[in-house]
Amino acid sequence: MPSSKKINILVIHPHCVMSDMISFLLESEFNSQVMSCQSKDNAYQLLSNTHFDLVVSSSQMSDGTGEEIFQTMVDCEKILPFILIDKNGRKISPYKNNSIIAAIPEEKTISDLNTIFSKMLSVDTSSKPDEWTEISLAPLVHMSALPEDIFIQLVSGRKLKIFQAGDTITTDDVKRYSRKQVEKLFLKRSAFCWLIKQIDNAVPEILKNPEGVIYIESSPQIAVKEDELPSFAAIPIQEEFMKQLHEKSKEVIAQMKKNKDLVKLLKSFNVNRAQNAFFKSRIDLVCMISCAVSRELGWMSDAMYEKLIYVSYVHDLTLIENPHLAKLQNAAQLSSQPSLTKDEQNLFLQHPILVANIITKDTRAPAEAALIVRQHHEKPNGQGFPDKLTHTRIMPTSAVLQISIDLAQYILSNPGWTMEAYFADSGQQFRGGPFTKISRSLEKIFKSKH
Ligand SMILES: [Fe+2]
Repeated sequence: MPSSKKINILVIHPHCVMSDMISFLLESEFNSQVMSCQSKDNAYQLLSNTHFDLVVSSSQMSDGTGEEIFQTMVDCEKILPFILIDKNGRKISPYKNNSIIAAIPEEKTISDLNTIFSKMLSVDTSSKPDEWTEISLAPLVHMSALPEDIFIQLVSGRKLKIFQAGDTITTDDVKRYSRKQVEKLFLKRSAFCWLIKQIDNAVPEILKNPEGVIYIESSPQIAVKEDELPSFAAIPIQEEFMKQLHEKSKEVIAQMKKNKDLVKLLKSFNVNRAQNAFFKSRIDLVCMISCAVSRELGWMSDAMYEKLIYVSYVHDLTLIENPHLAKLQNAAQLSSQPSLTKDEQNLFLQHPILVANIITKDTRAPAEAALIVRQHHEKPNGQGFPDKLTHTRIMPTSAVLQISIDLAQYILSNPGWTMEAYFADSGQQFRGGPFTKISRSLEKIFKSKH
């Protein structure tokens, strides 16, 4: 967030559930404070005696329309950014030279508001990767079940679980925690992203049945059980690998901190392209590139180096016996390989989840490592997997890992590689949110050496 000051938003919507879902998104994701009302008259009252920075209104209330509210505000010279949720998202003509900033179709209420607010507030997710999202409990009463555990934060800063995945939140729960003056709770970032996606999917159903329950599926993170790991996941190799990693991690961190010149380092690095050396070569390259990019971005703490080195080592752990799968970077490359069996395809598509599950059991894993790895095949344009996140949801450290893997793979696949050719080939695939800044940092490292 660019500022810690909360944005005051008025949401005018005739349906309570939809209104609560909009408030849930805006308050949790965009540092805002939302007041809501269900009618035109109530909106006029609130607008006359409360300060708002922005209005989000449905086009149709029982006593009038969103356009009428906008026009009355213009007549009263109360000019605020105004977003209209319209049945069809039709184009609205300006009124007395004032325009509604966006008219969004009601079926896309959640996804479009998310996109508009991300752009409008220039949300910079590259400043700090968040593991937790602060939420209110009340909107969750409309949901069939929690997708994952919910926590409160103790005075010590430690998080304590108070509800678990599958629980249903009731109005009594909300009252109970309100009496204890617990207003804010915490959901893991990945679970929050999953929940928003589920709410977005549920919008057509909410519109059909405005007072109904929103059906929420368990997040895939908890849906994948250990006994569902593919049989050829080579667990003993993973354990040995993790042991070695922890034994030598300090040594690797020291080496990476010492290596200040990535260009020189890559030139002198003896790339072993033999099939049996694939993982070692790629891990070494990913470590070098990710740590150099991190330094260029100004992320130079030991904790950050440790995190990047750890995820460089483990991100494809369950593919260790299948290097042909580890070379694939996206679902399109997967579908271009018709010879792959169904098991191989599943192993590839599930590996970010499977490895994240292994990491959660590693008590020495750096903070956020599981989430970074879970997101390492998510793409800025939302075409990645397993959660189809867009650039606003992908952690910056995961973007660093992903770009580093891409360059490392390029170096291994192209013996005559050059950075110019790489930048030309990689094109615009890493653009949006933290990806833009990280790609530019990589280009800067190379350009400064020419
Ligand atoms: Fe991977």
